[in-house]
Amino acid sequence: MLQIKALFYLTMLALSLVQLVSSDEHNHVYEEGEEVVLWMNTVGPYHNRQETYTYFSLPFCRGPKQDIAHYHETLGEALQGVELELSGLDIDFNVPVKRTTYCEVTLSEEKAEAFIYAVKNHYWYQMYIDDLPIWGIVGEISKDDPPQFYLWTHKKLDIGVNAKQIVDVNLTSDSKVLIKPGAKVTFSYEVTFKPSKVQFADRFDKYLDPSFFQHRIHWFSIFNSFMMVVFLVGLVSMILMRTLRKDYDRYNKADDVDDLERDLGDEYGWKQVHGDVFRAPTQPLLFSVLIGSGLQLACVILAVVSLAMLVEMYTERGSLLSATIFVYAAASPVGGFVGGALYARSGGRKWIKQAVVQALFIPALLTSVALSVNLIAIGYRASRSLPVLHSIAMLAILGFVILPLSLVGTVLGRNLAGQPNLPCRVNAVPRPIPEKRWFMEPPVICLLGGLLPFGSIFIEMYFVFTSFWAYKVYYVFGFSFLVFLILLCVTGCVTVVCAYFLLNSEDYRWQWCSFLSGASTALYLYMYAVYYFFFKTKMYGLFQTSFYFGYMALFCAALALVCGAIGFVATSLFVRKIYSTVKID
Ligand SMILES: *[C@@H]1O[C@H](CO)[C@@H](O)[C@H](O)[C@H]1NC(C)=O
Repeated sequence: MLQIKALFYLTMLALSLVQLVSSDEHNHVYEEGEEVVLWMNTVGPYHNRQETYTYFSLPFCRGPKQDIAHYHETLGEALQGVELELSGLDIDFNVPVKRTTYCEVTLSEEKAEAFIYAVKNHYWYQMYIDDLPIWGIVGEISKDDPPQFYLWTHKKLDIGVNAKQIVDVNLTSDSKVLIKPGAKVTFSYEVTFKPSKVQFADRFDKYLDPSFFQHRIHWFSIFNSFMMVVFLVGLVSMILMRTLRKDYDRYNKADDVDDLERDLGDEYGWKQVHGDVFRAPTQPLLFSVLIGSGLQLACVILAVVSLAMLVEMYTERGSLLSATIFVYAAASPVGGFVGGALYARSGGRKWIKQAVVQALFIPALLTSVALSVNLIAIGYRASRSLPVLHSIAMLAILGFVILPLSLVGTVLGRNLAGQPNLPCRVNAVPRPIPEKRWFMEPPVICLLGGLLPFGSIFIEMYFVFTSFWAYKVYYVFGFSFLVFLILLCVTGCVTVVCAYFLLNSEDYRWQWCSFLSGASTALYLYMYAVYYFFFKTKMYGLFQTSFYFGYMALFCAALALVCGAIGFVATSLFVRKIYSTVKID
């Protein structure tokens, strides 16, 4: 446990490329009278949690104190749009501050309009004291007709103190002032320190929402999915055992083909395609890249979720994202290895091209979405636009870590696992694929394949979406770990069944079909995301909408890769198993 924690912090250290803060925010221990920094983070519409702007983009004014202008955030924070700026308020540890005016703004026409716009759109802002987040609302709309707009001008901070540490902060907004051009608005603050019994280690607990995350529905859904796995695994193994045994028996007896049975669409015929079943998939380069990326992502998800179970990452801003980037880079050899090996087995010759595409595929996918959202963010001057420095840092990680590691993986994969050792020989001439009923066509099978895996995850996805899009702190990584394992099992079982049906209809194109029948899970998830957007959120505006759909598409693409790759792996194990017992005459 301790090593993991140490490793984690070491990682964070390596990733905090530009972290230079000199205060006691690092050890969180304060002496009497020592400076406590109040950081202003972002301000933005309550319903659009990702549309955020720097606090001082509204015409607020700063306090008199002005030593550190800007906090240099870590990579993960920057990517999440954290934009800390000094408030200028003078706060010292255990020194209460009486109601004090800290600055004054005369509202010009323009400034008044900006405030009215913010109040109308329910803007709220976020601040940090000693890493504890604090939220406050900008103003209030009166219920008159026509409505009047008021601005809160007084901030009262109640800071809970346990020994020499800050364990609790509450903000109360007070003294509303009517916004109208020409008005003089004075901003004031007040600080009290109270002894508190909260332990330092538990100070983030008040941000967690156990009644939401540990709702009965959540437990029930896990139980439900688990039963589904048991049922599916049992069903698949039972059906397959029986059918396979029947098949073996029949093939071994004689070739008296029962035409009737064939017409009934019975399990006839998988053995017929033994000369084609190991034919390389079409588009081997693309196929190997997809499978390699999918398995790499599966490793990343497993590693990150396990790490998050062991270390409480929600106490540090951006650390989950930083950790994900690090783990992704470290897992690059996996993608390279799998992709390279698969491509070599498929007889592909352009291996350098394959290796480069493999290394850059996911980063390119990510960049294209991030770039387009970023362009809109710049148009909006939102704090989500990527700073140049951090873009360069990302490029450096890509060029100097991900690319070489992935190439090493590819070379190893080609040399260690690039030889196809197939149980059946591949015929020189491909067999024609017989006509079949519409529901046996590969597209239909692939579409149906995703239904059950989607069914096993969609309740968990509700919790994940809600915590991502509505800023609830997701902390139940044990749940997500279980659900991920369940998803892998269900996907594996379902794709095996799909491939079995396909092979039985004497269609040997199982590779792509197994990938797509797993990947179609993500299609359903995306439809669910559309539903979620319209019925569960109140987001509006071009920026937030494109952010939502862009990043949801990315999330679903990642899930498609993972499920598809797992489907392919499970199916190829299965296919190898059944064809290794075929006697070729
Ligand atoms: C903050 O508010 C909560 C809930 O009202 C209260 O229990 C806690 O004591 C308050 N903390 C401080 C420091 O005032």
